[in-house]
Amino acid sequence: MKRTHHCNQIRQSHIGKTVTLNGWVHSRRDLGGVLFLDVRDRNGRTQTVFDPSDLSPELFDRATSLHQESVVAVTGKVRKRPEGTDNEKIPTGEVEVLVSQLEVLNPADVLPFPIDDPQEVAKVNEELRLKHRYLDLRRPQIARNLRLRCRAATATRQFMDEEDFWEIETPILFKSTPEGAREFLVPSRIQPGQFYALPQSPQQFKQILMVGGVEKYYQLSRCFRDEDLRADRQPEFTQIDIEMSFIDREDVYDLIERLMRRLWQATRDIDLELPFRRLTFQEAMNRFGTDKPDTRFAMELVDLTATFRDSAFKVFRNVVQNGGSIKALNAKGCSGVTQGQMETLTKLAAEFGAKGLAYIKVEQGEWKSPIVKFFSEEEKTALRERLEVEETDLILFAADEWLKGCEILGRLRLYCAELLQKRGAWQPEADRFDFLWITDFPLLQYDREMHRWYSSHHPFTAPVPEDIPLLTDNPRQVRGQHYDLVVNGVELGGGSIRIHRSDIQKTVFEKVLGLSDEIVQQRFGYLLEAFRYGAPPHGGIALGFDRIVAMLCDAASIREVIAFPKTTRGTDLLANAPAPVEPKQLRELHLQSKTKPKESG
Ligand code: AMO
Ligand code: AMP
Repeated sequence: MKRTHHCNQIRQSHIGKTVTLNGWVHSRRDLGGVLFLDVRDRNGRTQTVFDPSDLSPELFDRATSLHQESVVAVTGKVRKRPEGTDNEKIPTGEVEVLVSQLEVLNPADVLPFPIDDPQEVAKVNEELRLKHRYLDLRRPQIARNLRLRCRAATATRQFMDEEDFWEIETPILFKSTPEGAREFLVPSRIQPGQFYALPQSPQQFKQILMVGGVEKYYQLSRCFRDEDLRADRQPEFTQIDIEMSFIDREDVYDLIERLMRRLWQATRDIDLELPFRRLTFQEAMNRFGTDKPDTRFAMELVDLTATFRDSAFKVFRNVVQNGGSIKALNAKGCSGVTQGQMETLTKLAAEFGAKGLAYIKVEQGEWKSPIVKFFSEEEKTALRERLEVEETDLILFAADEWLKGCEILGRLRLYCAELLQKRGAWQPEADRFDFLWITDFPLLQYDREMHRWYSSHHPFTAPVPEDIPLLTDNPRQVRGQHYDLVVNGVELGGGSIRIHRSDIQKTVFEKVLGLSDEIVQQRFGYLLEAFRYGAPPHGGIALGFDRIVAMLCDAASIREVIAFPKTTRGTDLLANAPAPVEPKQLRELHLQSKTKPKESG
């Protein structure tokens, strides 16, 4: 009983025809002795009818005893549904199949959770769903996400092919070159004590491909990072990875803008407006307090440093006199925050290193605040004008070193937007995608916890040419040729023009990042050598493919667009990975485990 049609295909035009459907028993209803089974496949579902007056008792009993999600083949005649019983929610809702034959291809046990009602499924614990991911995958929502993901991949390949890029695979067994995230290591059996590492990205290989004369490379590449996971991070994920020779930043912007336009057209039928807006890192931080601003709402940061330079309020005056900034944010309509929300705001600010959180609540024409008593009339006027203060506003202040103050308020800005959204005072517009290029990042940033400078992007990023002389004397002033692609507050991708000269790359490793000559040789010697034999100027970018697809699917997490995602603890609950291995396997790999493995399961 092979299918003649799929389950989303049958319409009024099929009435009177005999059809065979293959699929799963989606739902069942008993109405006055007549049995209705909805049969579902990946395309949709069709109602089938088992009428005991037409069928052998044996066949009818078999149908009655079927659990949901049993796999069946049914044959029957298509007919119009009786007056008033149409289901307008599904495309096959005007017809039904009056069954004459049933084959049970595989009966299903009672399910660990119901999957026919989207609202019920949403309530099921995510861990239970991941453990039975095959059931989760049958949900129309996830099926739609996977289909869209496939379309986006195909559209990417078509576009890149039209642009004359070559798709080239690079090794998964690579070596450890810690420069960003923590890596996954793979011990070598043949060479005792030696390890491969899984690539964080194909960065070095794609640069070597440019030295190899490939000129235009791309790959839908799998990357591995042993990081703390969140909704938008997985330990293995996919990038659209791109590298080109003889180009500048403008060429990358142009290519990626057209690729994004193609993807949004192919999957959502949306025409993105080109070119995308650009913001420098400096401006993004100053106005939004983050290098991935969500520009769908305003609530911009205001700089009041000049206003409070000689203030009677000592806290602010001292910060300004020590070279810091006074930044403020007007959370419109938020004066009614609860005590608990105010505490959360203070805690969030403290997480970014704030020493306090000064505020003003504007209620009944009054400024309620522990600090307003210190402000002069001019200061109050300046506040009123610069922040456009009105009734029910909540003004928040950060007095700190410029970057830190921006980051503090940037975090609070997002929290206040969430508050407004929960309250229904603000909703992001549907189908709005605020694409932005963030440009002119500093080449280096400071890690306050580790007390060291690190590359904003990665150590292969080229400095802006006119800043090269500053590299050794004043590296902190050097701008990098690095750019990020940001949409609605999400970093979709990042890239740069690379260093292609061995001497400059060596200076960055040694003089700027402070790596010893020995370590540089051991980790990157082959790259420095390659650069001496004719490396063309080159640059590129990598886009987070999972994040792009999640955005296209309006999914809250990239887990919803990955067939087999891991939990935030890096566990694959379906197959139960990671898992212990046999002592013999460890011995073969010349390894010894210090921890006795927990029995999993
Ligand atoms: P970067 O590290 O910025 O750049 O990564 C590029 C993009 O990959 C996505 N991404 C992730 N997606 C899911 N889970 C993760 N754990 C994860 N980590 C990163 C993000 C990010 O913007 N080699 C450089 C690119 C280059 O310079 O060409 C690189 O990997 O969307
Ligand atoms: P103090 O004089 O230290 O009690 O601070 C007075 C007010 O200013 C309190 O509400 C503090 O939370 C706030 N405050 C202190 N330091 C800062 C700062 N660096 N940025 C913003 N507000 C601060």
